[in-house]
Amino acid sequence: MSLNRIPLAGVIGSPIAHSKSPALHTHWLKTLGIAGHYIPIDVAQEDLEHIVKTLPKMGFVGVNVTVPYKEKVMDFADLVTDRAALIGSANTLIFRKDGKIHADNTDSYGFIQNLRQKAPDWDPKAGPAAILGAGGAARAVIAALVEVGVPEILISNRTKARAEKLKTDFGKRLRVVDWVQAGNMLEEAATVINTTSLGMVGKPPLRVPLDGLQKGTLVTDLVYAPLMTHLLNEANEAGCVTVDGLGMLLHQAVPAFERWFGVRPQVTDETRAAVLR
Ligand code: ATR
Repeated sequence: MSLNRIPLAGVIGSPIAHSKSPALHTHWLKTLGIAGHYIPIDVAQEDLEHIVKTLPKMGFVGVNVTVPYKEKVMDFADLVTDRAALIGSANTLIFRKDGKIHADNTDSYGFIQNLRQKAPDWDPKAGPAAILGAGGAARAVIAALVEVGVPEILISNRTKARAEKLKTDFGKRLRVVDWVQAGNMLEEAATVINTTSLGMVGKPPLRVPLDGLQKGTLVTDLVYAPLMTHLLNEANEAGCVTVDGLGMLLHQAVPAFERWFGVRPQVTDETRAAVLR
């Protein structure tokens, strides 16, 4: 690679037009005065391996990975971090100077950092956490909660078998609750997390009874479009502390940007504004 090449990074997925990552990384590159570019790349399934292996030769220092390639991309990595292996997917590839491809997952880091920044009084050890949903996002959230020492994780999913699989993978700390009982499980929780896609633009809202929730329970939604979901509005009315999901997206990008461009960016109100524009 030429020494003077301007570093390139990007996000691969399909479709990719909706991704907020280009606006985010471009904002950081600009405000930090770094010469570099961050590009959305729509990749067809059959081209995935070839493109991942070609990008480093084109001056890419790494890429983010999004739907539907977060699992598949690990097959092309020379090195998979323990965290990515545990979560079962990678959202970040680092193309190292020695030619090796390094796969990591920074979603669990982003999840925790968002809560720490927006709800500094939140104590993960205060009581059980209740998770709605059992897809890929739930796996990252569980890994994060286990790491920060949540005493118990209650999990409920429309398709119960997926929640049971998570219990098999993550162990005794998980308790599976029937989807129809999800409202009851929330009453026990000190932390509530929606990891389903319910509430997203174009999807029905997530409707669970929140009247039994203890005041001061932290409720967070991974959905960030819209920012204030039905769940968060209801939780606010019930006296809970609420945190929207945008910050998770912003914080998960911090370690990737630092690895690629050598500077650790900050997540501020200005960063939020830049991706909401
Ligand atoms: P991700 O990787 O973002 O978590 P996913 O693996 O497609 O995406 O998971 C989406 C989650 O939203 C799942 O928990 C899914 O429930 P199922 O496992 O039963 O499919 C949940 N979900 C999506 N639409 C739903 C709906 N209409 N009602 C209840 N849960 C829904």
